[in-house]
Amino acid sequence: MMTMLLQHFTLLILVMILSSTKATEAHGFVQSLSGCSDKCGNITIPYPFGIEKGCYLEKNFQVNCTTLMLHDITFKVIDISLDGFMHGVLPMAYECYNSTHKLSGLDPIIWTRRFYVSSTMNLLTTVGCDTRADMSFNGIDYVAGSTSRTNCHMVYEGICVGHGCRQIPIPPKMSYFQIRSQRTTENVGKWSFNNCSYAFIVQRDRYTFHKTDFDDMLNRSFPAVLDWTVGHTDCKHAKEDKYNYICKENSVCIDSYSGNNGYNCRCAPGYQGNPYLQNGCQDIDECEARSLNVCIYECINTNGSYNCTCPLGKSGDGREDGSGCSYMEAAKSLRNTLYSGRKVFSYHESENDLGLAMFFVSSLERGCLIQVLDDQLKKDGMNEHINNIAMLAKACIELEGKKRPSMNAVKEELNQIRQSFINF
Ligand SMILES: *[C@@H]1O[C@H](CO)[C@@H](O)[C@H](O)[C@H]1NC(C)=O
Ligand SMILES: *[C@@H]1O[C@H](CO)[C@@H](O)[C@H](O)[C@H]1NC(C)=O
Ligand SMILES: *[C@@H]1O[C@H](CO)[C@@H](O)[C@H](O)[C@H]1NC(C)=O
Ligand SMILES: *[C@@H]1O[C@H](CO)[C@@H](O)[C@H](O)[C@H]1NC(C)=O
Ligand SMILES: *[C@@H]1O[C@H](CO)[C@@H](O)[C@H](O)[C@H]1NC(C)=O
Ligand SMILES: *[C@@H]1O[C@H](CO)[C@@H](O)[C@H](O)[C@H]1NC(C)=O
Ligand SMILES: *[C@@H]1O[C@H](CO)[C@@H](O)[C@H](O)[C@H]1NC(C)=O
Repeated sequence: MMTMLLQHFTLLILVMILSSTKATEAHGFVQSLSGCSDKCGNITIPYPFGIEKGCYLEKNFQVNCTTLMLHDITFKVIDISLDGFMHGVLPMAYECYNSTHKLSGLDPIIWTRRFYVSSTMNLLTTVGCDTRADMSFNGIDYVAGSTSRTNCHMVYEGICVGHGCRQIPIPPKMSYFQIRSQRTTENVGKWSFNNCSYAFIVQRDRYTFHKTDFDDMLNRSFPAVLDWTVGHTDCKHAKEDKYNYICKENSVCIDSYSGNNGYNCRCAPGYQGNPYLQNGCQDIDECEARSLNVCIYECINTNGSYNCTCPLGKSGDGREDGSGCSYMEAAKSLRNTLYSGRKVFSYHESENDLGLAMFFVSSLERGCLIQVLDDQLKKDGMNEHINNIAMLAKACIELEGKKRPSMNAVKEELNQIRQSFINF
């Protein structure tokens, strides 16, 4: 009996592994207007951004694939997210000295036009001794609170709190400004181990200070984040202007939180894809992946959602977080399957077995597995073994490939459990 039970579980696990592979496959969505390229090298360029003429929403959304620069904007693209962010590189300010004189330097003007440098996701970073860095606009107006100063009396590897390195927040709504770095020591040779001062904008957590950076920053670049939006009004006004409203069907409009004029589109719940394109938001098949639905028995996909059903003769909403399906009936069905000598691994049966497996795992998650198992098993004191197998089955059904154990690990684990049955 035990051997049969084990074989049954082994096959169930195999069925689960085979059935869940499909759900982990990456979805590829159309990202650009038809007839347009959607990639610069390995970088995806989703509409409203585009490469060729006629392929972008407006001029500032044009990406030059050779330079990866946005049209007329001092920003080199690393990636563009449909969530309204893009990662890229902004120019760095620097000054280099010998012991007596300034030898070279650059105080670049940054102009990102309709896009803002994200004030929540970036930090103005200063590297160098006795360095003062700031962001200014209109040549004279220093941006309040964005002056950063450092000294080098105590310099700690990896720590950026004012000694040779400092990071401070940047103000909101910055799209046109100059970034500057300047040595504040009268004797510029005071810190012989640091010949250059640098100022740059970098995404939080994407820069770690190293002492060796003092003289090794010039040809390096760090990712910064820009907020992007479409349109020139908030959602309420945008929707009133039906002709120019940019979000397509099955999408919702999101007001810019960064104070940017404009809005973003997002696929409505239950849909995924590119909300800026006609037919861009496609229905998510929640039934395809176990992690996307809470059905205990059967899942039926609908547009934008899904329904759970119970097997014939049983009632309830079929949901883990709801009334489920009639409990004892389901338990009986599991027990019947466990005890029948029925051949499990047949193509005709596999779908039912997957449903059964799902029920099995959902019972485990509710902590009531032992209740649904047959009395005979309980009497035999098999709880621990059954739970072990169940945990293994649960691991196998994890839909994210990485969490799932390898075939060898499964084999090993089953062997161990089998061994403990023999000793039982
Ligand atoms: C794209 O390619 C570059 C080098 O060609 C590489 O450094 C970068 O990591 C790649 N990006 C992605 C997202 O694969
Ligand atoms: C892209 O940039 C390169 C180098 O600056 C330039 O020669 C080319 O004309 C640009 N391409 C487009 C489509 O603007
Ligand atoms: C520093 O550079 C300046 C300008 O090039 C030069 O005149 C001066 O001699 C240099 N000082 C030292 C100590 O090398
Ligand atoms: C820094 O400046 C000093 C003095 O001018 C020079 O000897 C040294 O080579 C410089 N170091 C670097 C890394 O350029
Ligand atoms: C930066 O790169 C340029 C050309 O790629 C090179 O000539 C220069 O020496 C480099 N500078 C530093 C400080 O590495
Ligand atoms: C979803 O809606 C489309 C039409 O918009 C229809 O053709 C399709 O059958 C629907 N699918 C489901 C699962 O209801
Ligand atoms: C899903 O459930 C709703 C509400 O019970 C029902 O109106 C709808 O017809 C069901 N759709 C499908 C495809 O079963």
